[in-house]
This record gives sequence, C-alpha cells and structure tokens, in this order.
Amino acid sequence: MKRQIATVFNEKFAAPPAAIYSSAGRINLIGEHLDYNGGYVLPGSIDKCIMAAIKPNGTDKVRLHAVDMNESCEFALSADAPVQQWARYVYGVCKETMKRNGLVQGFDAAFMGNVPLGAGLSSSAALESCFAFAINDLFNGNAIAKTELAKIGQDTEHNYCGVNCGIMDQFASVMGLEGKLIRINCETLEYDYVPFNPKGYRLVLIDTKVKHELVNSPYNQRRNSCERAAKALGVKLLCNSSIDKLPSIKGKIADEDYKRAEYVLAEQKRVIDVCESLKRDDYEAVGKLMYETHHGLSALYEVSCEELDFLNDVARECGVTGSRMMGGGFGGCTINLVKDGLYDAFVEAATSKFEAKFGHKPGVIDVKISDGAHKVC
Ligand code: GLA
Repeated sequence: MKRQIATVFNEKFAAPPAAIYSSAGRINLIGEHLDYNGGYVLPGSIDKCIMAAIKPNGTDKVRLHAVDMNESCEFALSADAPVQQWARYVYGVCKETMKRNGLVQGFDAAFMGNVPLGAGLSSSAALESCFAFAINDLFNGNAIAKTELAKIGQDTEHNYCGVNCGIMDQFASVMGLEGKLIRINCETLEYDYVPFNPKGYRLVLIDTKVKHELVNSPYNQRRNSCERAAKALGVKLLCNSSIDKLPSIKGKIADEDYKRAEYVLAEQKRVIDVCESLKRDDYEAVGKLMYETHHGLSALYEVSCEELDFLNDVARECGVTGSRMMGGGFGGCTINLVKDGLYDAFVEAATSKFEAKFGHKPGVIDVKISDGAHKVC
C-alpha cells in the first residue's frame, strides 16, 4: 500500500510526498456503549488501516484525492466545509486542530485504505486519526498530546459529521499498539495496555454486510436513556454508579431506561472481569463474558438485529469460545474468539448458514492487534 499511495500521489500532484502516515481501524473485545457513560472499554487497533501520502503546498488550500473512490476535493482552510462526506472528516480535523491553537497550513494528500466500510471497524476514526497525526507531525512538531488527537477526531464527528459518538474509536486508532488492547477509563481518559496474545485462538469478525438505517437516531436515544438513569441515581455519568444501586430507582424511571442502565452497569463489571481473566490467560472465561455481553446488547440495550443474533447463535452451536455483536449495533459484525482447530469449521458454518437464511454471503475478516497512528516513512 505504501508504494501504491506514493505512486498515486506523484501522478496527482507531480512531486513525491513529503511523508506517509497510517492509522488503523479498531475492534473492541468488551465494553460496548460504555464510552459515553464514562465506563471502561477494551479496544485495540487492527491490521487494517488508512494510509495517506502528504506534502505541504505552501498555500492555504487543502487538495485531497481519495484513491479508493477515485474522487478529488479541494477546500480553503478558511472556507466552509466541503460537501463530500469523506472530505468533511479531513476538514473537521484541520478545524479542530486550529481551535486548539495548532498550526495547519495548506497541503496535498492522497489516501487509501483496507478498513472495510460499514462493518463497524471505525474507518472514519482511522481517517481522522491518520490526518490528525500527520498534521501534528508535519506542522506542530508533535506538540499536541496523542490523547488530544483522539479528541480532535471525536469533535470532528460531533461538529462536522453529526455523530454524537464517544471517544473509544479515535482513542484506539491513535493509541493502539501491536499485541495489546487498551483499557481506557472513558471519564478520565486514563489508560493502560493489556497484553493480548491469545495462543491457540484467533479473532475473526463475521460481517453481516447490513446496516439497518433506523429513524430517530437510536444511538442518541440510548445516550439519552443512560443520562436519565444517571440523573435518577444522582451521578454525572452512569458508570459512576454501580449495579447494586440500580434497584433503588426501579419504578422511578421508565422501564426502558431501566433496562438500558441494567445492561450498562453489568457490562462495566464484565470489562473488569475480562481484564482479570486476561491476566490468567483464561480465554474461556473471556469468551463466556462475551456471550453475556451479546445477550445484554440484544435483550436489554436492544441494539442488535436478526442477522447479528443469528451469527451469535451459530457461533454458540459451533462451540466458539466467545462471540458477540461489536460496535454501535443495528448491523455490522460479530467478533469471535475461536480456537485454532475450530476456525475452518466455524467460518464455513457461519458463511453457509447465513447465506441460506439471508440470501447473501457475510464477510469474513481476520484481525490482528497492530499499531495505531504512526509515520510510515
Ligand atoms: C460507536 C461509537 C463509539 C461507541 C460504540 C459503542 O462505535 O462511535 O463511540 O459508543 O459505538 O460501544
């Protein structure tokens, strides 16, 4: 990819790039929908990335070429946001960097990637993180803290893309390290790295290739439910409370909000249990907790869908160690922790059974935990 992106840059801008940067998509082992509740999450960046070749151009204009879409876009740093969605990510990163008194000058860039789109692997966070890292390196001598680069990506989503997301995706994309998951306290942004080298197991994602477009922004609705439950519990963020306090507000909030809170507070405990299990290399215990998470996301948080539930059932029937839907929900993929010896049989069963039921083949995406944002050369 490195050579290809340099070649395309040369063709488009008639000069070699000054540098090439990369940032990754992410998985999340456990801790779903906890980031905006101030809880712990356990993501890691993966071996699927967005790579950008860049060169300052001495003007106040940014000229972009998206290789995979074969589209170009140009905007002045002082102008309004461009119309193309993909370009708004880069525009937003420039603006958010400037808001923090970071220097941004005009540049030319070509980018491409292999993070599957729409699968819930945060291709948009990878794009934001790649450019935030590049701008910090090229124009600011890396003066902006890496955790702040993650916030630049998150604020880009909020202010330029209309997605009120938490910090997890951008944080994982910027901070990820090979062979390590990141346990992030999403309230304080304190974090530590948790080694993840599951010998004898593999991580594989099965992509439903569906994204149910739902009205009324269910993601924001879940946030609102959690905020109401937190208020009733007398805390700022729901994860500031604990599962044993929950019965005290039964009947005082809507049943639906109660169910959402029940999931969140149980999930918070599961993240801590998974971290303990990982210390003992007890992947069977990790897997059981992943199934519990799926059940909670499906029955209590209600962000799963028929296709995801089906894949979760197939995993269980095949004896897969751990399986659950991953990410925001309503489509995307399941994450599966599978014993090496079971891998082929599971992938074959998941693919054929899914196709027989839904009429199309799901995607199969093998993932390794790899480095997040960095300069390639
Ligand atoms: C999306 C959001 C994240 C997080 C997850 C659910 O990926 O972008 O911030 O809330 O959903 O865990």
